[in-house]
Amino acid sequence: MKPSTQLIHSIPVDELTGAISVPIYQTSTFVQESPGINKGFEFSRANNPTRKVLEDLITSLEEGYAGFGFASGMAAIDAVLKLLKSGDEIMAVEDTYGGIFSIFNHMFERFGIKVNFVDMSDTDKVLEKITAKTRIIWLESPTNPTLKISDIKSISKIARQHNILLVVDNTFSTPLLQKPIPWAQIS
Ligand SMILES: Cc1ncc(COP(=O)(O)O)c(C=O)c1O
Repeated sequence: MKPSTQLIHSIPVDELTGAISVPIYQTSTFVQESPGINKGFEFSRANNPTRKVLEDLITSLEEGYAGFGFASGMAAIDAVLKLLKSGDEIMAVEDTYGGIFSIFNHMFERFGIKVNFVDMSDTDKVLEKITAKTRIIWLESPTNPTLKISDIKSISKIARQHNILLVVDNTFSTPLLQKPIPWAQIS
């Protein structure tokens, strides 16, 4: 099946009403039979049926394990960075998007997280610059704005071998063109 056909057939019909378009559930709270006993939804900040459809579709298109929807790219980035703790290091692609450069340098450095910027279009440099404290390799491919390309497949192997998380911020790509997640699963 072509990705566009797969996508159109993956959109679920609403079980409650049979609606063929996914309804927008505009509720903050879901009624529970008793505390913790519910239909899988409690509060929209944590989970919402409309958002879940989006997350499941993206997961399926990117061949991932799970998907999480955020209101903006920077919100998603902020959530990922909170996996780190003081003393950890990030190896980041040298010409990363300006917003990321700002929060790395002006915010997370203040919390004791060091960022090393590396030209990742040269895969050997990635290997060379790993330290005992590197916890995340932060990639963009293509980068914004200079459209530099890195070898995601090779870098994902290096990250896995060193037990480092790999982030690929693929603002210029689409799940139909580039699937970084299956590459990151290569052992
Ligand atoms: C590579 C990259 N990451 C993150 C962002 C931020 O996304 P948002 O504007 O949705 O917060 C952008 C925005 O252009 C971007 O190019």
